[in-house]
Amino acid sequence: MEATAAVRAEGLAKEFGSVRALDGVSFEIAPGEVFALLGPNGAGKSTTLRILVTLALPTSGRAEVFGVDVQRNPTKVRSMLGYVPQALSVDGALTGRDNVWLFAGLYDIPWAERETRVRATLETLGLGEAADRPASTYSGGMIRRLELAQALVHRPRLLVLDEPTVGLDPIARDDFWTRIEELRESTGVTVLLSTHYMEEAEEHVHRVALLHRGRLRALDTPVALERGLGAGKNLEDVFRTFASDEGVPASGGWKDVRAVRRTARRVG
Ligand SMILES: Nc1ncnc2c1ncn2[C@@H]1O[C@H](COP(=O)(O)OP(=O)(O)OP(=O)(O)O)[C@@H](O)[C@H]1O
Ligand SMILES: [Mg+2]
Repeated sequence: MEATAAVRAEGLAKEFGSVRALDGVSFEIAPGEVFALLGPNGAGKSTTLRILVTLALPTSGRAEVFGVDVQRNPTKVRSMLGYVPQALSVDGALTGRDNVWLFAGLYDIPWAERETRVRATLETLGLGEAADRPASTYSGGMIRRLELAQALVHRPRLLVLDEPTVGLDPIARDDFWTRIEELRESTGVTVLLSTHYMEEAEEHVHRVALLHRGRLRALDTPVALERGLGAGKNLEDVFRTFASDEGVPASGGWKDVRAVRRTARRVG
């Protein structure tokens, strides 16, 4: 039997008035995979993530998280995932601890466990010492880690991160990825993120989906996408090819579906 996909999106479309933000996007993410959405500004990355985390409804199409339909059972879906939005999600007036405490409450972590869980999560993310300072005194890297703590306190199976490393210096970005790797090793969490950093996708991501104007233009491992363009090409070349309007025709056909299933079997 094939393992249940961590995420399955089928023909997702989303319209905002006359704007077609998503135009029939399908993909599958295997449990344990690190999967990135790439694409130019306005491509539909955040919209896709927001549908998957149940904060937006698709105009058509459907999506599942670990086999649970996001529209039919949003509460169950929310309990299985942690989400860090593109915009700031911490309250600067509260301490780091109180920011995480709030999420522990939202996710209904039993009272008896709450204090230990919040403390352990902050410590795992290197915020133990800063926990009782207002978040407004944190650096950018610390704020991103605090947001991760908020998203992880209920031990989700899927972590959804919208541009998690934007604005971080190279050291903070490395630190972020080290923590994600540690987390994957200890919990097997599946990671879905969006990013504009190609080196990061090349180095840390198993597969990338390239969106452009609400359509899926390419989906594969970074290496396979690069090879597809020819010798000596990098992911930035892939990005330029598929995100240009003259680019290669949209993919997403039978061949891609087969490749996804194969990866799903291998990873799951
Ligand atoms: N709430 C909304 N109301 C109207 N239009 C919206 C809304 N949210 C998104 N859009 C439009 O949908 C399209 C896709 O937006 P989305 O935020 O998903 O892009 P993105 O790929 O995340 O871009 P970026 O890299 O800039 O974050 C854009 O044209 C955007 O203007
Ligand atoms: Mg976005």
